[in-house]
Amino acid sequence: MAEPSSAPRPESAGAATPAAAADPAMRSAPAAAAEKTQVPKLRVTDLHVVYRGRGGDDIEAVRGVSFDIHDKPLIGELVVFLGPSGCGKSTILKAVAGLFPPTRGEVLIEGFPVDGPGRDRGMVFQQYTSFSWLTVQENVEYGLRLRGIPAAERREQAHAILKAVGLSQFAAKYPKELSGGMKQRVAIARTLINKPKLLLMDEPFGALDPQTRWEMQGMLIDISHREDNTILFVTHDVAEAVYLADTVYILSKRPAQILHRVDIPTFEDRSLAVKASPEFRRCEEQLLALLYKQ
Ligand SMILES: Nc1ncnc2c1ncn2[C@@H]1O[C@H](COP(=O)(O)OP(=O)(O)OP(=O)(O)O)[C@@H](O)[C@H]1O
Ligand SMILES: [Mg+2]
Repeated sequence: MAEPSSAPRPESAGAATPAAAADPAMRSAPAAAAEKTQVPKLRVTDLHVVYRGRGGDDIEAVRGVSFDIHDKPLIGELVVFLGPSGCGKSTILKAVAGLFPPTRGEVLIEGFPVDGPGRDRGMVFQQYTSFSWLTVQENVEYGLRLRGIPAAERREQAHAILKAVGLSQFAAKYPKELSGGMKQRVAIARTLINKPKLLLMDEPFGALDPQTRWEMQGMLIDISHREDNTILFVTHDVAEAVYLADTVYILSKRPAQILHRVDIPTFEDRSLAVKASPEFRRCEEQLLALLYKQ
């Protein structure tokens, strides 16, 4: 697999953010003014990623992506990137995770440049990523063990997180004994236990059946509110974006560029019936129109 090419950082990090370029009518003036004065939790400026092919067949995956995520204290925040398959969504998340340096552009966490992976960011990947030779509990404790946290404390924290994701009864099982949804909960618990400032989630529920997917989405909203997490979530599923997001960024086909920013109302109803409600449908139609108009 090709590694993304790396080029010198741009001299100017002051390019207009899409938050300004996107639909400003969707946000109130005081909210926009308050955002401007804070250091954002995440700032991505003019991100470009080109994968260099051996035979000169370069693939431009991301072109000029800029956005800010401001933390909303005490309630958590879920920002969703919605874009067609293969457009460059995972590439954006990997650049924020620090898995490679961008070809051009800058990623700042609370004002500090990202120059590699760090504990301040936790990533949940598209595929399940538990260690098969460790039990559920050992998988969840893994990050704490690496940091030398004593066993009793590790156990206590793992119990709390396993309870939050509904896996207390399965602590002693091995990943192969779990369903797909449970495995993905283990991956989420493993990441949450490190208390990352920013949770990066790459279509984590893509392989699940609709009912399990729905339950997992509800669980994620509950966790984000309770833990006050900022979550950057990517998907190509419009209903998932409407249900989860506070804010949706719509991406173009490859190379990924931000086309629109849309703020989404909160849906308190956790039953599947909410999907049929007029307001949910209206949001879906709005996103679909913006996605397929490109
Ligand atoms: N390591 C790599 N080397 C070369 N090309 C890559 C690499 N990773 C991704 N690409 C290419 O970059 C483009 C964007 O890939 P990416 O995985 O970011 O898309 P995506 O939006 O996450 O897709 P999906 O919805 O299918 O997960 C694709 O054309 C892909 O083939
Ligand atoms: Mg992907």
